[in-house]
Amino acid sequence: MKNITRTLRLTALVSTMALTVSAQRGRPPAPAPRGLPDEPGKETVIRLCGSTCHGPQIVSGKGYSKDNWAAVVNGMISRGAKANAAEFTEIVDYLGKHLPPRTGTAGAGGVGFIGAGPDDAHIVDAAAADRGKSTYVAECVTCHGPKARGGPDSLPPAQRGADLVRSLVVLKDRYGATIGAFLKKGHPMQSGKASARLDGAQVIDLAHFLHAKVGETLRSGPYSQPINVLTGNKAAGEAYFKGAGGCTHCHSISGDLAGIGKKYDPVMLQQKFLFPRTFGFARGGGARAAAPKQVTLKVTPPDGKTVSGTLAYLDDFNVALRDSEGEYHSWKRTPALKVEKNDPYQGHIDLLDKYTDKDIHNVVAFLNSVQ
Ligand code: HEC
Ligand code: HEC
Repeated sequence: MKNITRTLRLTALVSTMALTVSAQRGRPPAPAPRGLPDEPGKETVIRLCGSTCHGPQIVSGKGYSKDNWAAVVNGMISRGAKANAAEFTEIVDYLGKHLPPRTGTAGAGGVGFIGAGPDDAHIVDAAAADRGKSTYVAECVTCHGPKARGGPDSLPPAQRGADLVRSLVVLKDRYGATIGAFLKKGHPMQSGKASARLDGAQVIDLAHFLHAKVGETLRSGPYSQPINVLTGNKAAGEAYFKGAGGCTHCHSISGDLAGIGKKYDPVMLQQKFLFPRTFGFARGGGARAAAPKQVTLKVTPPDGKTVSGTLAYLDDFNVALRDSEGEYHSWKRTPALKVEKNDPYQGHIDLLDKYTDKDIHNVVAFLNSVQ
């Protein structure tokens, strides 16, 4: 569902960009900043960087790697600067070539982003921060906490996430450059997906969200409050639960889900409902989560004798299971070997592609009301 929203948003963005770029062609160019050599790409830099929130001189005096420039320009685009894909490449090439990282001195304007001074602080875009919040709630909140100030003491130390408001990884970040590099190396995520798979736009949105948290932690802006995930409509959630969501095929709010709203706080409730398996370690409202249910296999070799048990290993070439006696069985996979897999969480895995963000918020509001 996230991918769909993102694609739509990007498509909309790209078409507005295309329209605005042509509309801007007639404008008188902004004065050229000093220090930008007359080479191909300069015009585009001046037009893009000088057209929106600030003059083009904002870029001169800075020095970043091409990757970091790409992150900066991406950030500008998410804040309303207009460029198509070709112009984007042209700008990043030009800036990477002519304004490379400066080496040597530390401190303001030092090496790349590390010494970024107050003049080039990350400027938060509220809409991007809101989108980043969704990713944070889906992938980070349980370990890093609803205020991003660190995970609860109830988590085992290995899972208790750091205080991100004080994290150097966040403080040194500009438009996702260091947060993105950190996540690229591999970091746990609530969904169990690889953190390196978050795309550039998601990382930049996350960066906006975390910078908003940093900026407002000491004030009383909206981002200094614990995240409220209860924004949905209870009645719509109930209708979805009983209807389109198909939840009643497996659950009942007077049976297995009785009192679910008491069992978990809203953040945890959302995680448990989105990722019931990978959230094995989660707990909330004092309730300890049960061990995740096992995936089971039924393997029938060509000779016909079926062996069943819990999944021990499965890929395209090999399969292994442990039977109820605890004995281990393994096979090489061939077309004649029949393998049937039963994943108790398959229903939830399939649902991830189905619900919209709105459905999710509505369902959480409904489940929370089941006291
Ligand atoms: C399973 C728990 C868990 C999840 C989920 C998780 N983290 Fe972490 N995170 C940690 C722990 C533990 C640390 C401290 C150890 C380390 O650096 O790996 C940490 C450290 C970090 C740091 C470095 C802080 C510093 O200054 O050293 C950043 C940045 C970070 N996490 C961001 C994120 C983001 C963004 C997400 C969501 C996309 C996320 N984390 C999801 C547990 C988690
Ligand atoms: C195909 C069956 C199936 C469908 C459909 C299904 N679920 Fe589940 N659900 C499960 C299983 C299995 C678990 C794991 C139970 C466990 O681990 O004890 C689970 C766990 C949950 C949990 C966590 C319960 C707890 O006590 O931790 C919630 C909440 C939940 N589902 C909500 C929903 C909602 C809402 C829908 C519909 C949008 C839905 N489920 C659809 C099978 C299903």
